[in-house]
Amino acid sequence: MSPLRWQHDTLYLLDQAELPHEEIWLKIVSWEGVAEAIRTMQVRGAPAIGIAAAYGIALGMQGTYSGDDRAARFSRVAATLRETRPTAVNLFWAIERMERLFNEQADSPGLPALLADEAAAIHTEDIEANRRLGEHGSRVLPSGARVLTICNAGGLATGGYGTALGVIREAHQSGKLSMVYACETRPRLQGARLTAWELTHEKIPFQLIVDSAAGRLMAEKKIDAVIVGADRIARNGDTANKIGTYTLAVLADRHKVPFYVVAPQSTIDRATLSGEGIPIEERSAEEVLAPFGTAIAPAGTAAWNPAFDVTPAELITAIITEAGVHRPPYSFSECEVARS
Ligand code: MRU
Repeated sequence: MSPLRWQHDTLYLLDQAELPHEEIWLKIVSWEGVAEAIRTMQVRGAPAIGIAAAYGIALGMQGTYSGDDRAARFSRVAATLRETRPTAVNLFWAIERMERLFNEQADSPGLPALLADEAAAIHTEDIEANRRLGEHGSRVLPSGARVLTICNAGGLATGGYGTALGVIREAHQSGKLSMVYACETRPRLQGARLTAWELTHEKIPFQLIVDSAAGRLMAEKKIDAVIVGADRIARNGDTANKIGTYTLAVLADRHKVPFYVVAPQSTIDRATLSGEGIPIEERSAEEVLAPFGTAIAPAGTAAWNPAFDVTPAELITAIITEAGVHRPPYSFSECEVARS
């Protein structure tokens, strides 16, 4: 279930703004088109945004560029893609990786093909990392696990397997999972639209809850773990993820429910020491006031719409990456220490 496909120098994206009612593949032939798809969340989820940006650079460096030399063209494409969304570090990580290749091969006649291959490698490696972290994560769950998740951290948000949903998928396949509770995830409803779509496809038992039902769910002791994805993990383990994640972590602490963050190592921002340094995207008030075009508040109502929050490391039971299960105290240095 990959939301991205690269074929004949063209990027195809499964339009996540239209799911679950319509399954439309967008044909993207320009880097500007990729930037727009990221901005409008037709492609979303930290790893998927990074992969899309890498393909965007490959698109941007094809053919001839009027007025620009190669280096100027690369800078312009990379700068525009960097400005699309600020929180998911995978975007910056993928662009930097493409930039390293560009710097090594800037004069090569085969540069466009090399960049396309590099983007495809980022894509494939993400799926492989997801599969490995899915296995590590599934091992920490008890049998018959009932889990709670938020947003969509599934195949749609990644190269094609999923982080939090990768763990859930793996646990389901090994017969360990009894129920998934999915927060609908206001205001963009990634849980109700996208996670529900994926779980339905996979025939994984789940129930949707409104975000504010999470406390009641935990009070009735119906869950064994909260499992969430991440947009950026600081060096000390503080983690930015979809708005509402921090609320779940506080509730999990109160109810003694283990709280797991699941992400590939490309989501770890070793240059940022703690959550205080993570930029949090604020989106338009319209998303809150008139979701999907239907006004729900009186005209003139003001709204504040942060898209992410930061969960402090002290509330996180473990951070699960493809390298293993990392337990506190977290200290992600330049040289990663694998744990399992
Ligand atoms: O605003 P979105 O839909 O891009 O936010 C996505 C999330 O918050 C996901 O939980 C996160 O990117 C992890 S995806 C594997």
